[in-house]
Amino acid sequence: MRIVSGIQPTGNLHLGNYLGAIRNWVAMQDEWTAKGATCLYFLADLHAISMPHVPAELAANTREMVAALVSCGIDPDRSILFNQAQVPQHAELQWLLNGTARMGWLNRMTQWKDKAGKNREGASVALFTYPVLQAADVLLYQATHVPVGEDQKQHLELARDVAQKFNNDFASEDKPVFTLPDPIIPPQAARIMSLRDGNSKMSKSDPSDMSRINLTDDADTIMQKVKKAKTDPEPLPAEIEGLAGRPEANNLVGIYAVMAGVTPADVLRDFAGKGFGAFKPALGELLVEKLSPMAARYRTLREDRAALDAILAKGGEKARALALPTLNAAYDALGLVRS
Ligand code: TRP
Repeated sequence: MRIVSGIQPTGNLHLGNYLGAIRNWVAMQDEWTAKGATCLYFLADLHAISMPHVPAELAANTREMVAALVSCGIDPDRSILFNQAQVPQHAELQWLLNGTARMGWLNRMTQWKDKAGKNREGASVALFTYPVLQAADVLLYQATHVPVGEDQKQHLELARDVAQKFNNDFASEDKPVFTLPDPIIPPQAARIMSLRDGNSKMSKSDPSDMSRINLTDDADTIMQKVKKAKTDPEPLPAEIEGLAGRPEANNLVGIYAVMAGVTPADVLRDFAGKGFGAFKPALGELLVEKLSPMAARYRTLREDRAALDAILAKGGEKARALALPTLNAAYDALGLVRS
């Protein structure tokens, strides 16, 4: 079993990032490395240049994301943690796979359609071939399982199509070059909403800092933000159905549930009939208890550039070694002479 997943580097990490991807990566690492599987987790910095970006911010965000991942529990001794830019095999394999991926397949990708919008002529070529790089990311390591959010399922299917066609066209049946990876969509892929508006996602770009819990927030700040979170005047219902049409209440109950490792129904069983005056302090304390140790590590580690660069250098070295045999097999299969 080999687990591979990537995340685009962003700065100002918040609760939504943690409960979205990071927590799931940590859980998979803890479960699967104990059973002898290898987990490779990387910062998709090469993907980040498919959209307009500020170079200094990309560099800073890459390091900040490493600090966040390690602080939240990714262990660079058990998992291979690296950034694409230090493993040139990703870009090399992408080019080789560009011969196999079809224009029609890429044209159907919803992320491409969404991000390019009406201005396809002005979109970068990288945005169009983004899914081919993503296919290279996982095929390079013979990934068997790829944890991703629902929105990335289509890209994973494309990776499977690319692998299948490449194997058909260029490999013998008994010796395929690539493994077909399976997506793993986390069961309760937590969608954390803004504390100020239960209908929009918690986001680092929301102008109001009160809308999100940052991974750097201290205990007082967390308590304050939870207490000031938007709610409605009704007490909490006894059943999930009672949360319908109450996006803010639904969000806070959802956050409590994932942080406590229980279901929203469990939360309502404990808090049915209670108002937010009682629920919010409980939620705040839970968040402080769970986030404080991570926040403390994060605040220290993000300032330690030498430590962060050392983690990435070590991860990159391990990743390059694992990538080489598959890349060589792909060159050979295509008839590319390199000796
Ligand atoms: N496209 C993914 C996202 O935006 C990030 C990503 C890049 C990825 N390469 C990957 C995820 C390979 C899983 C496997 O979330």
